[in-house]
Amino acid sequence: MPVNLQGKSFLKLLDFSTAEIQYLIRLSKQFKNLKLSRTPHRYLEGKNIVLLFEKTSTRTRCSFEVAGMDLGMGVTYLDPGSSQMGKKESIEDTARVLGRFYDGIEYRGFSQTLVEEMAEKAGVPVWNGLTDAFHPTQMIADMLTVEENFGYLKGLNFTFMGDARNNVANSLMVVCAKLGMHFTACGPKKLMPEEDLIKKCQKICQETQGTLRFVEDPNEGVKNAHVVYTDIWVSMGEPSSVWGERIKLLAPYQVNKPLMQQAANDAIFMHCLPSFHDLETEVGQQIHEKFGLTEMEVSDEVFESSQSKVFDEAENRMHTIKAIMYATLK
Ligand code: CP
Ligand code: NVA
Repeated sequence: MPVNLQGKSFLKLLDFSTAEIQYLIRLSKQFKNLKLSRTPHRYLEGKNIVLLFEKTSTRTRCSFEVAGMDLGMGVTYLDPGSSQMGKKESIEDTARVLGRFYDGIEYRGFSQTLVEEMAEKAGVPVWNGLTDAFHPTQMIADMLTVEENFGYLKGLNFTFMGDARNNVANSLMVVCAKLGMHFTACGPKKLMPEEDLIKKCQKICQETQGTLRFVEDPNEGVKNAHVVYTDIWVSMGEPSSVWGERIKLLAPYQVNKPLMQQAANDAIFMHCLPSFHDLETEVGQQIHEKFGLTEMEVSDEVFESSQSKVFDEAENRMHTIKAIMYATLK
């Protein structure tokens, strides 16, 4: 059956079939080729989108803006400080108003329930630009990056190291299950994904021949991994008071050279970014002063190595968000 995502919101990958996810990856490649060959592709001229951010962003915001402009659309950016959203008007009411002005709405915020409710009320496609639970647009970019490196996805060993119950880890588990990959969540017991989500993914794996593993030993976790992925140890929206405990729990899961050497010979390193791999950030400095660390979830050596694909991955955010918008708006 041909894939048709017209009018559909993009809230989490559990809502999409394997074929639909594969279609978005294929479409992303086509958009990447158009961009790299400087071929104009203003396919959505006359449409307008609005970007709502309740948390900060570099990649997601700029991807939506550039992708929107490349497709010929008008783009409005709203942060909580420059609109009534949240303070004097609920997110749901904001969505109902914006749905009358715009053809699509991107939302980055806290609860997944809110973005789902917004999609019900808005009457136009809503794209989840990250919630506490999921980061689905990141996944299409990540899978495109993996495919560019290995030529295929099904059957690859994919290991996430660290806070294995955060939005990125949750989403990776879902997308790997959907695409028949072998996913390992490697981290302390306390930071493993929720049972309910694991069960959903196990069910998906029965159809896709994917597998899931939950491993506490970092050496065991990366063994034979084709992809080693990590993310920051404290996510946006979490209080800074959790840093101390998180560092204690996650220090053994830092992705460094000795760990990468235990992965497959052709293994790549990935990270959604931003990353604390040196002391060139305010937070990095503060953590250094308080806890003495000079790098956190990934060593600078691995981050800067030829195995690291983090900037290709970041670039792919733009091509893939373009594909997601085009597929749902065309
Ligand atoms: N990876 C990602 O979502 O980056 P931003 O927070 O900069 O958007
Ligand atoms: N887990 C991170 C991802 C940032 C793109 C966060 O939510 O802050």
